[in-house]
Order: sequence, then structure tokens, then C-alpha cells
Amino acid sequence: MCDHAQVQQTVLVVGGGGREHALVRALARAEGNPNIYCAPGNAGIAQDAQVRPVDVNDPRAVTALAREIAADFVILGPEAPLVTGAGDALRVAGIPVLGPSKAAARLEGSKAFAKEIMVAAGVPTARSVTVTDVATGVAAIDAFGVPVAIKADGLAAGKGVVVAQTRDEAVTALTDALERRVFGEAGAIVVVEEGMTGPEVSLLAICAGEHIARFPAARDYKPIGDGNVGPNTGGMGSVSPIPDLSDAEADRLIDLVHRPVVAEMARRGIPFSGVLYAGLMMTAAGPRVLEFNVRFGDPETQALLPRLADDALEFLGNAARGRVPDRPVAVHADPCVAIVLAAAGYPGTPRQGDVISGLAAAALGAEIYHAGTRRNDAGQLVTGGGRVLAVAHRGTTVAEARARAYAAAELITWEGMQMRRDIALGL
Ligand code: AMP
Ligand code: GLY
Repeated sequence: MCDHAQVQQTVLVVGGGGREHALVRALARAEGNPNIYCAPGNAGIAQDAQVRPVDVNDPRAVTALAREIAADFVILGPEAPLVTGAGDALRVAGIPVLGPSKAAARLEGSKAFAKEIMVAAGVPTARSVTVTDVATGVAAIDAFGVPVAIKADGLAAGKGVVVAQTRDEAVTALTDALERRVFGEAGAIVVVEEGMTGPEVSLLAICAGEHIARFPAARDYKPIGDGNVGPNTGGMGSVSPIPDLSDAEADRLIDLVHRPVVAEMARRGIPFSGVLYAGLMMTAAGPRVLEFNVRFGDPETQALLPRLADDALEFLGNAARGRVPDRPVAVHADPCVAIVLAAAGYPGTPRQGDVISGLAAAALGAEIYHAGTRRNDAGQLVTGGGRVLAVAHRGTTVAEARARAYAAAELITWEGMQMRRDIALGL
């Protein structure tokens, strides 16, 4: 028996969205039956873990909570605590943490830095120019032609990228960021990138030293509307695996992207440990990296973790302690599809307080992960954010998983609920 099984472990998951609920749920099913805390959590997570309020952007507050509950390890869910240095603060306190240092989190926190690393490591990505003034930016737009991607360097809650189809649109996006500062300081530096086309793939891997354990490939669906139209959201659904991307190809992508990036970071004295998520576009000329995230994806995690065959507590706990097997994460063959249910008004200002019904029936068989939910004064479950729930289901094929996930999602309703109807369609 492994030594961890002898003492009940305490785990702290930081964050309060669907991704964190999926992590909490996976841990709750682990053999070691851990004590699970989530901060700040949400109304659904509160049914599976002890929730605590915390300012996730304050590394000292996160560390103080981890100490108070005597956490054996911590999982940092969202990007903000990683970029503000909660990973470093926890390590200094001697608490194992799944998540990179602040310096390594720049792979997500600065698109210009990510580009620099990719170029140095020879990782395929679109041509780009990093600019801080409009004239240089316009010259880059004219050099690349359209479509062209205008990207705010820093974190902008997923809204910092405009893929412009016309020169005017590109110049407007550039001046919005550099001069009107619509993204604040995050847009003081802009990456102008050549436009590409092709299907997108999210490839997540847990890294420590030279060891890399990849998850199966996944895909998220970012725009609000069916057929990928309308404004971008945090993600309206996800699927894993991608049937036309074989395991051998996923392994090759790890060799092409993750290994050289991890090696380049180590060479610079910024070792990366934690989840490295590569957002890839499969272009006619081959795969190209669109972006890196340094954490689990949301909503990819809601389709990946229901497939986990490794024990979540052992696997994630070991990873937090820097022990990662150099092999893919063990998963069930069954595909999984996750459908996101969003509030009226999203991705603009979401309407809050709408009473949610149908959950109990939907939960028979499906995984229901909460994101923006809370309880009103009468104790009813109501909408409390943009993305409210994710409904995930496995099946023997993607089509079956999809049909089951939708059958469950359709049992849930509230005033103005939005859901895409084409998640995982045609895969
Ligand atoms: P990012 O945050 O960099 O992943 O960009 C958000 C989304 O914008 C991506 O998922 C793509 O759909 C799109 N995108 C980003 N860069 C490009 C590009 N160079 N060409 C075309 N689309 C892009
Ligand atoms: N699914 C996109 C993200 O997690 O950033």
C-alpha cells in the first residue's frame, strides 16, 4: 500500500468555476477519500467540498488558508493566482502545489514572452511582431495582410484577441489596445500575428522536470453561437478525444511543442512545473501554437476528468510534489462531451438570480459541474455568473456521449438559458 493511503490527505483547490468543480469531483472519488477544500468555490462545489472565501489574487491569503487547513497540497485552478505568484508563496511555505512559479506563468501572462520562448525553442507558431506603438503595428498589419490577429500581451479574461478580417478592423483593435487602453496595462504591448485557419486542438500535459504526462486531446468551442459565430466566451462546450487526432499524433505534438518549451524554460533558469496547455491550430502547413495556458483549461477539464483512470488524488498529489510519470495520463477509452449552460446576456453582462430547475433529473447519469451558481435568500439555486453549469457525459462514441450530454442538459432550464446545440457535432 502506498504511504499516502494511510493518512487522510487534505487538498485545497483554488478557484470557483466548472474546472474546479471537476477537479473537486475527481478528488472526491479518489481511493484515499481526501478532505477537500475549495476557495472560493460556488454553490455546487459546496456539496462536494468545504468552501472557504479567499482573494485568489492575494498569494499571502491563499498561503494562509492552505496553512490553516494544513493542506497536504494545493491545486491552483485559474491563471490569476499563478500570474500573481501564489505558486511561489506556497512553495516558500513548504506546501506542494500544482502550478508553475510566477516567472514560468509568464508563458500565459505575456503573449510576447510566449512568442520569444517558442521562437528560441523552434516551436511552430505563426509569424508575429511585438509592438508598443501604433505606427509599427500598422506596418506589421500591412506586411502580414488580413486576416491578422491582434493580441493584447497580458491577461484580458479571454477577450484580448481580435482576429481581424479587414485592415480597418485590425487598426481599430490595435489602437483600442495601445491608445485607448481598453485592456488596461495588459494592452500596452501588442502582438500582431499572421492569420491562420484550421481546426483547433487543446493539448494539456502535466510537466515536472523532463517528465511530461499528457492528457488526451480536447477541443473547446469558444464563440457563443452555433457554427462558431458571435462573440467569444470562456468556452461553451468541450469534447475529448478528437477522433481525427490519433494518440501517436498527440505524442508527436508533445515532442514538437511541450518538450522543447520545457527545455527552453529550464535552460533560462525558469523551470516549468504544472499543467502546460497548448492551444494549437492544425493548419494546412502543419500544427501551429496559438497560445499557452499554464493551468487546466475550462471547459476542457470538464470533458477530460470524467475520463480519468489514474487515481486523481495520487496522480495530482504526486504532480504537486514534482513527481510526474513520463507517460500519458491513463484514461477510459470512452469519449466525453461537456455542454456549457450560460445565463441570459452572456458573454455581455449576465443576468443573475434566475432560478435553476431540473438539476436533480439531469444529474442521474450525467456529471453536473457548477460554475456561476449561488443560493438566493429562499435557498433556491440561482444563476450567479455568465457560465452557470456544465453537463458532461461519457459514451462509447463521441456521438453517443454527445446525445447523452444533450439529453441531460435539456432537462435543465431557467429564464433566458443559453446553450450551443452543435458541441462535438460531426466528430
Ligand atoms: P488565443 O487566446 O491566442 O488562443 O486566441 C483566441 C482565439 O483566437 C483562438 O482560439 C483562435 O480561435 C483565434 N486566433 C488566435 N490567433 C489566431 C491566428 N493567428 N489566426 C487565426 N485565429 C487566431
Ligand atoms: N478553454 C480555454 C481556456 O481555458 O483558456
